Amino acid sequence: METIEIITVVGARPQFIKAAAVSRAIGAYDEAGNQNRLHERIIHTGQHYDDNMSNIFFEQLQIPAPAVNLEVGSGPHGRQTGAMLERLEKVLLDERPDWVLIYGDTNSTLAAALAAAKLHIPVAHVEAGLRSYNRRMPEEINRVVADCLSTLLFCPTETAVANLEKEGVTKGVCNVGDVMYDSVLFNAALAEQSSDIMSRLRLEPKSFYLATVHRAENTDDPERLAGILAAFERIDKPIVLPLHPRTRKTLGQAVGKMSRRVNVIEPVQYLDMIMLERNARIILTDSGGVQKEAFWFGTPCVTLRDETEWVELVEAGCNRLTGPGTEKIISAIAAFEETGATLPPDRRENLYGDGHSAEKIAATLARHQGD
Ligand code: UD1
Ligand code: UDP
Repeated sequence: METIEIITVVGARPQFIKAAAVSRAIGAYDEAGNQNRLHERIIHTGQHYDDNMSNIFFEQLQIPAPAVNLEVGSGPHGRQTGAMLERLEKVLLDERPDWVLIYGDTNSTLAAALAAAKLHIPVAHVEAGLRSYNRRMPEEINRVVADCLSTLLFCPTETAVANLEKEGVTKGVCNVGDVMYDSVLFNAALAEQSSDIMSRLRLEPKSFYLATVHRAENTDDPERLAGILAAFERIDKPIVLPLHPRTRKTLGQAVGKMSRRVNVIEPVQYLDMIMLERNARIILTDSGGVQKEAFWFGTPCVTLRDETEWVELVEAGCNRLTGPGTEKIISAIAAFEETGATLPPDRRENLYGDGHSAEKIAATLARHQGD
């Protein structure tokens, strides 16, 4: 029997949610008495650090506590990524794991990929192959580099596999489906039982819209942000807006001047979030993860971006890409209000795997030792 040492590097909110599913599968893999053992240690870069952007996810989703928190915090890209790189190198030199496991496309993803690759430690990338083909997004740069440096590329969709093939990357690529789907399946019933967000906010199912805005391209461009907020002002239903700290900082006092129909709240726990997504009439978002969760819950989604990595959703007709233009947002909402429908549940399950992505990832890591 061999023990395969895995160092998981996470740092930002969506990575905690993805890592929760895989950590659980790694634990279950060991309990099943397989030939090889998997041993995981989590490194938190400290990119997100507010309680409601970090700790609450570790607690609620029972993610093993990080072995180390690098406490890098916020900063410009170069400084933040550089500090992560320096601190991660030290940890990886000490630990010399068989795998460095990374998620998505944040600066934490990029730093971990670079630090590991330079030390000749193989990298496994969960959510590989996604592309917006917009290099102005920091995430696009992060994911292109991370994919380039990865030995195992766990894609969530066939589109992602095809994107990598276009770049000549085929070795180590496998479509395992989306770990966020595993997470929704695991937590949906739990959320129904334990979340009181609906009564706390005095919400009736399908009577409100849910919105999230945090993408740099929207928050850092006053014109784009103004276009989105003007649309919110025109909507005649209550809007729940769990506000990302980045956006709160940009908006400053403008938060208090928004229409009373817009309920600006602090970022919420995952189980509360999925209850809001399931019960919202329409979701407006520039988040990657929230677009897919909208789909899994059958809630129509208006995406406040010019392009999306999750093109299947747009093709399926349940996601409308509007960018930040007020009129476009309002017409997309009107179109959804008119049809009121999204995909039937039987088609919803096929776009992102079978809900066992994390198990496939654990089994693949156990089979390969970075070869
Ligand atoms: C990051 C990711 C983005 C991901 C998002 C998920 C990069 C380049 N971007 O964006 O892909 O969609 O996380 O939420 O990695 N802040 C706090 N408290 C926190 C965290 C952040 O106040 O706990 C504030 C700080 O002012 C900080 C700003 O938010 O400067 C932005 O944080 P940062 O982690 O740099 O980027 P995100 O916008 O969160
Ligand atoms: N999320 C959450 N609370 C919130 C907002 C989002 O739990 O207040 C969850 C959401 O359900 C999804 C993930 O965070 O699982 C998405 O993260 P985010 O939008 O920050 O990043 P992105 O997916 O755009 O990278």
